[in-house]
Amino acid sequence: MKTRVNLGADSYDIIIERGSINKFADLVNIKGKVLIVTDSGVPKKYSDCLASQFDESFVYTVPEGEQSKSLNRFGEIQSFLLEKGFTRKDSVIACGGGVPGDLAGFVSACFMRGIDLYNFPTTVLSQVDSSIGGKTAVDLDGIKNIVGAFHQPKAVIIDPDVLSSLPTRQISNGLAEAVKMSLTSDSELFEIFETKDILQNIDEILFRAIEIKRKVVERDVKESGLRMILNFGHTIGHGIESEEGLHGLYHGECVALGMIPMCSESVRSRLVPVLKKLNLPTEISIDTEKVISAVIHDKKMRDSTVNAVLVNNIGSYEIRKMTVNEIAQKLPLVVKE
Ligand SMILES: NC(=O)c1ccc[n+]([C@@H]2O[C@H](COP(=O)([O-])OP(=O)(O)OC[C@H]3O[C@@H](n4cnc5c(N)ncnc54)[C@H](O)[C@@H]3O)[C@@H](O)[C@H]2O)c1
Repeated sequence: MKTRVNLGADSYDIIIERGSINKFADLVNIKGKVLIVTDSGVPKKYSDCLASQFDESFVYTVPEGEQSKSLNRFGEIQSFLLEKGFTRKDSVIACGGGVPGDLAGFVSACFMRGIDLYNFPTTVLSQVDSSIGGKTAVDLDGIKNIVGAFHQPKAVIIDPDVLSSLPTRQISNGLAEAVKMSLTSDSELFEIFETKDILQNIDEILFRAIEIKRKVVERDVKESGLRMILNFGHTIGHGIESEEGLHGLYHGECVALGMIPMCSESVRSRLVPVLKKLNLPTEISIDTEKVISAVIHDKKMRDSTVNAVLVNNIGSYEIRKMTVNEIAQKLPLVVKE
């Protein structure tokens, strides 16, 4: 399966194909040196396989985890590129989830004011979301993605086979984002989650979710309007994440919780079983006050209201300004104190 992100001179292909890791070099047109950025949790055989396909390649492995999205790691990799004599004609490949993806993306956006980036995402989340759209960033002073740039990849190559090594909980974590996209934009995708064996239909799920992300990116490349729908579930989700994330809930799990109160009752009655099928949480014990104060401090909160995305019917959405009180009133649907 193949699709193309149409962004004028910045257009690129997304190829979704089992076994594509083995013919990566044939699918892209890379000349010159290649730096593959990966992390210590991504099986080494993936970066080795990519590296073996190029005449002059290097692998840079950062420790796994969000802490690698830092200016220190960014600086180290820039120095590595310099030391190895990289120029504007050379390329960076991100091999891994959103962490090496965002880091490698920002490195490639900045080195010599921008060199070519190719994405080989290896988590569900990165395959359906972070590898597409050109958002690159590192974290600073505890604030996520605060230093970054828009830098579109030259191609995104997706091999669903690499998900075989991904822990089940990480698969569900990424699929939470695909469920999110289906709720606002694709009722047929939601029905696949509802009625079919999810792992057996993963290729179609990936493709349909990628199509949603692609269309959003094409229409709203710099996140001014439509891209907001990707934030469905994130207002309350972020509030829960800043309070509970430290105690071990993944981002997608917080988004799952965050979606539930933002749906109509009829949608909620279909969503909760799907989340349960994916072993995603559907309620949480947490201090409501703390969630609300985290929502208020979220950067998207303006004039004590927030532009919230609501789903009243599957496959469509409504954007509504909501006050803190209105959000607080919805919390008992998911928060049990
Ligand atoms: N740029 C964007 O548009 C965008 C969008 C959403 C999220 N993000 C960012 O993405 C990051 C989260 O991404 P993520 O969920 O992919 O996390 P991640 O990159 O940390 O990967 C999760 C874990 O899975 C391991 N892993 C990756 N691939 C594997 C495989 N095939 N087999 C076994 N283990 C594997 C990693 O080592 C890591 O431990 C966050 O930093 C978030 O801010 C960016």
